[in-house]
Amino acid sequence: MSENAKLNENRGRLAGKTAVITGGAAGIGRATSLKFAQEGAVVIILDIQKEAGEETVDMIRKSGGSAEFIETDVSSADQVEAAFDKIAETIGPYNVLFNHAGTITVKPLDQSTEADYDRLMDINVRSAFLVCRRAVKEMSENGGGSIVITASIASELGYALESLYCMTKGAVLQLSRAISVEYRDRGIRCNAVCPGFVKTAHGLREIDELDTAGQKWEENALAEAQGRICEPEEVASAVAFLASDEASFITGTALYVDNGWYAKG
Ligand SMILES: NC(=O)c1ccc[n+]([C@@H]2O[C@H](COP(=O)([O-])OP(=O)(O)OC[C@H]3O[C@@H](n4cnc5c(N)ncnc54)[C@H](O)[C@@H]3O)[C@@H](O)[C@H]2O)c1
Repeated sequence: MSENAKLNENRGRLAGKTAVITGGAAGIGRATSLKFAQEGAVVIILDIQKEAGEETVDMIRKSGGSAEFIETDVSSADQVEAAFDKIAETIGPYNVLFNHAGTITVKPLDQSTEADYDRLMDINVRSAFLVCRRAVKEMSENGGGSIVITASIASELGYALESLYCMTKGAVLQLSRAISVEYRDRGIRCNAVCPGFVKTAHGLREIDELDTAGQKWEENALAEAQGRICEPEEVASAVAFLASDEASFITGTALYVDNGWYAKG
């Protein structure tokens, strides 16, 4: 193999790219931060968890990659603007965004409060608005890029005890489709990943709370729905593909990472 071919082989699918990842400190976000770095991207993590964020950055640097952590609550407009200002001043243009940060509330709709609604809309939907609004502007000015938004199997299917969550995940899936249409001519692709149950703090808490409420996912229901629990790295692989130029003609799509659960309905 020629030296050039060897170099290219080692470059990775995201070589030369700079990626911003919200919620990149833990769970699927951490797995994706590591995957992106392994594929050659410079990684910038925005997250509220300082210790876990710095630990993820350490893991990337120790394996020879390049990463930064900026402590940010992505539901706050001021903090999002400050984080992106800092990126512009200290790192420069980025061409990948993984809009991933989010959370869940498990509760019957008739017991859900306005505070529950506001909290979930702020963390899951307002954050996506604030982050993507800034990213589409900057990517448009800097020659385009690729955005991946974490939606969910609950974006298009309805689940008992998850009304508020389903509302927020439907909203972000629609945001990703709208961005793909509005910004295609400015060189921006935007896609969504829609995972089923994933083995993270979020996914395990969700299963636990649903079980406590009587849905019993821990027994046969999860195996029936998706065979087994999904590993965070399996979502990260899907995100890396959509973020990379290998997905150059793919935009506006929802990629289900659920072992066929959505297909079964
Ligand atoms: N785990 C699952 O089963 C599953 C399935 C489908 C979709 N999702 C989606 O994945 C996301 C949750 O990720 P996870 O499963 O890796 O769980 P997680 O709880 O391990 O990770 C979520 C990350 O987001 C960060 N975060 C939360 N609120 C934030 C905020 N306001 N500002 C900045 N960062 C914030 C957390 O600190 C954490 O690092 C959500 O968007 C959720 O809808 C998860």
